Amino acid sequence: METHASSPGKIILFGEHAVVYGQPAIAAPVSQLRASAAVADRERKGVRLLAPDLGQDVLLRDAPGADALAAAVRQLQARAGLKRLPPLTIMVQSAIPIASGLGSGAAIVAALIRALARHLQRPDLAENEAVSAMTYEVEKIYHGTPSGIDNTVVSYEQTVYFVRRRPENLIDLFTSTKSLRLLLADTGIHSSTRLVVGHVRKQWQANQARYERIFVSCGTVAAEARQAIEAGDHFRVGELMDKNQQLLREMGVSAPELDRLVGAAKKAGALGAKLSGAGWGGNMIALVNEQTVEPVRQALVDAGARTVLESAVG
Ligand code: PMV
Repeated sequence: METHASSPGKIILFGEHAVVYGQPAIAAPVSQLRASAAVADRERKGVRLLAPDLGQDVLLRDAPGADALAAAVRQLQARAGLKRLPPLTIMVQSAIPIASGLGSGAAIVAALIRALARHLQRPDLAENEAVSAMTYEVEKIYHGTPSGIDNTVVSYEQTVYFVRRRPENLIDLFTSTKSLRLLLADTGIHSSTRLVVGHVRKQWQANQARYERIFVSCGTVAAEARQAIEAGDHFRVGELMDKNQQLLREMGVSAPELDRLVGAAKKAGALGAKLSGAGWGGNMIALVNEQTVEPVRQALVDAGARTVLESAVG
């Protein structure tokens, strides 16, 4: 028997970084970019972990503690209360570019956990909330202090208004009256979320008042953006994206390549444009409509985008 599951990539529409400090943020799935996992029974003993895209082929017992796939399997094993796992082959594949702010790590882990939970006939552990919680535990290993927004959006596969808080995060799944048309453009520069998040933390420690002000402004932008999205006011959504980009620049997480793509998109008529995710590289997003989609796409290519992808939110 073989069991499958898949999870989408994601973009952060508003509030990256500030979300780590308790401010609201909005993220949306990118359903056409997916990670998938297949779990099958195996004749020989042990659990074999295969990730052909990453050139990985290891047995669970030989995998280091920091290995994300092994950590995902161990998370599920612990939650399921299983002393031993049956002999299995677990294979993951992903069409989501890595280290590009599109949530590839979280999507691979979420897909693996869901497929394995189903294979072990634990539908309770394949539910969104459980998958998200286990994915969060794995994210902690290589992200340091993840806010929890990535694992939430890839597990629920819906637009989410998210606030990191105790004892429970606020997770509001919502839809817009009019779907947003976005272009995602890749700078081609790989960027480590852990490094950028660590840099912001150091800056915040050194300039608390300044950074708190920036974070609060990002939160206000995200809260207003939710209303504008729900009301279908794309002009306002665009303005807020521009404002968020300005704040991300002040935070020190943009990059010349991102600024170049953002500037080109705006000049070609995008309603708004900003980086998406951790920054320093990866992807930016531009809000377009019927009239501007082609000129903006062309402008992004001309400004050096490696790939330009269209995605709808809502
Ligand atoms: O994984 P990325 O690169 O999309 O970044 C995640 C967003 C951050 O706000 C920068 C970090 C976090 O944990 O929320």
